[in-house]
Amino acid sequence: IIASFQSKSLAGKHVLITAGPTFEPIDPVRGITNLSSGKMGYAIAQAAWEAGAKVTLISGPTALAQPYGVQRVNVQTAQQMHDAVMSALKAQVQDVFIAVAAVADWRVANASDQKIKKTSDSDTPQLEFAQNPDILALVAALPNAPYCVGFAAESENLLQYGAAKRIKKNIPLLVGNIGHHTFGKDDNELVLFDAHGHAELGRADKQTLATKLVSELAIRLKN
Ligand code: CTP
Ligand code: CA
Repeated sequence: IIASFQSKSLAGKHVLITAGPTFEPIDPVRGITNLSSGKMGYAIAQAAWEAGAKVTLISGPTALAQPYGVQRVNVQTAQQMHDAVMSALKAQVQDVFIAVAAVADWRVANASDQKIKKTSDSDTPQLEFAQNPDILALVAALPNAPYCVGFAAESENLLQYGAAKRIKKNIPLLVGNIGHHTFGKDDNELVLFDAHGHAELGRADKQTLATKLVSELAIRLKN
């Protein structure tokens, strides 16, 4: 009975989330992407909605169903994801930004307008790359920035790299995936990095971890 009178932990909060991979075109039929399935970001979007938040999800290409109650904007490239995030911030003051997307660090600078044709065995296309905007770092640097949460998928030295990445991006909370077995999987193991150090959330399915992460987030927003 008491519980029914308690407000939900993110009631009234606006939460903006990026999820999934990005797709960077090489030509009209080819591109560069990565193994992110979007499952962790979508699970967090669902958990935040269940905790009472108004959720906007900026999603790269995924095969996932729209999370219930969540407003989703579909994008392909990192630049489009950046632009969609900035428009969402313009349209509505956001309390929290959670960058779960596996954003391509580089795009193909010399992408072709037409399909690149195979010519001879020795003649291969030369791709040139340009740096993509670092969406999380740009949002964290805004005046009146929302509370920013980053993700890090490292292949080694997670405790060291995670702590360093949180400081480099200048964000209060960074979530590290333990091991490199998260991409496409239903379960995961997370470790939280904040100004006090790190804490492990343990191994569980992504929806359970998302609910735990939302609780941890709500505690930090209150403090
Ligand atoms: N991120 C982002 N925009 C980018 C690159 C990364 O918003 N262009 C966000 C990711 O969504 C994630 C965090 O930044 O929340 C960390 O991403 P990661 O790739 O681990 O960090 P990088 O700074 O790109 O470092 P590196 O890839 O060299 O490890
Ligand atoms: Ca990166």
